[in-house]
Amino acid sequence: MRRPRLGSTMRTLMLAIACIAAATSVPAAAPTDDLARYPVSGRRSGYTYLSPETRAQQKDEFANPGMLWVEQGERLWSLVPDKSKAQAQSCVGCHGDAAKSMRGVAARYPAFDRGEGHVVSLEHRINACRVKKQGATPFAWESQGLLAMTAYVSRQSLDMPVSVKVTGPAARSFERGRTAYYQRRGQLDMACAHCHEERTGARLRAEVISQGQINGHPVYRQLWQTMGSAQRMFAWCNDAVRADPYAYGSQEYTDLELFVKWRGRGLPVETPAIRR
Ligand code: HEC
Ligand code: HEC
Repeated sequence: MRRPRLGSTMRTLMLAIACIAAATSVPAAAPTDDLARYPVSGRRSGYTYLSPETRAQQKDEFANPGMLWVEQGERLWSLVPDKSKAQAQSCVGCHGDAAKSMRGVAARYPAFDRGEGHVVSLEHRINACRVKKQGATPFAWESQGLLAMTAYVSRQSLDMPVSVKVTGPAARSFERGRTAYYQRRGQLDMACAHCHEERTGARLRAEVISQGQINGHPVYRQLWQTMGSAQRMFAWCNDAVRADPYAYGSQEYTDLELFVKWRGRGLPVETPAIRR
């Protein structure tokens, strides 16, 4: 695997933005915490970088603000979006109980879709059913509806280990995602790996850099005061290095999402996770 070296521009910049490479800054686990489940073979969920208070909030269904999206998704699951369409059916009409039919689905997305002929994210898959099976208009990316539906479907895989297929028909997409991950970009000329592999535990302004895992997405991000998809996070990070982001739902971001999800293989699905 190609690992870019830290360039001098980047080193200076990292110093300039007060990047103090602390070995680690994981808060001590509360006695009742199940923190031990979140690192797997050296891979660490963003959960392990949270304060004990935020971790407790994520675990508490009543305190976790992301559960509002999950609940909205649950309502949408049994709703017919466009009753004027002859073929109109709700998700439940075809898929039945989501706790059974959707269990494990989020853990293995993005995935190659035979019908589409390429790798798709869970958001795409949900929208495909909405359009083709329900005759409705697709949800816009990052809309309340798509975040709610994705959070609800993902919630059905709670605690299941992330396991995406990266071989066979998904291999080319995976390799493109890997290349993108190690590619320098933006005015700061930095790759994802510069921060999320080489600088984990360091500070970037108010943030502690984690491994950049997506086992908890969509997440409720305190900074945004709302839910966000993995791809919104990619765009945020592109912006952090002053690189032009790709469009939400683009094949570039979907390939990257496949690679990033694979990096976190074995980590438990946490949706809706809370992040700073
Ligand atoms: C008319 C029936 C029908 C409706 C309505 C429907 N789906 Fe589907 N859905 C299917 C079928 C059939 C498949 C799998 C085969 C395929 O790709 O067509 C599928 C596949 C899926 C998958 C991928 C599952 C996997 O194992 O990879 C997801 C996720 C999904 N649907 C979500 C939804 C959601 C959310 C809704 C409501 C917004 C919905 N579907 C509405 C028929 C339907
Ligand atoms: C300049 C450093 C930097 C670069 C380069 C960078 N990120 Fe990030 N990233 C951050 C910071 C800071 C955060 C917020 C704190 C955290 O969760 O790590 C973050 C968060 C994330 C998260 C959320 C993690 C979670 O637990 O919710 C993901 C996913 C992510 N980055 C992916 C990427 C990808 C993919 C790239 C390349 C396109 C990238 N990042 C490039 C600094 C960076």
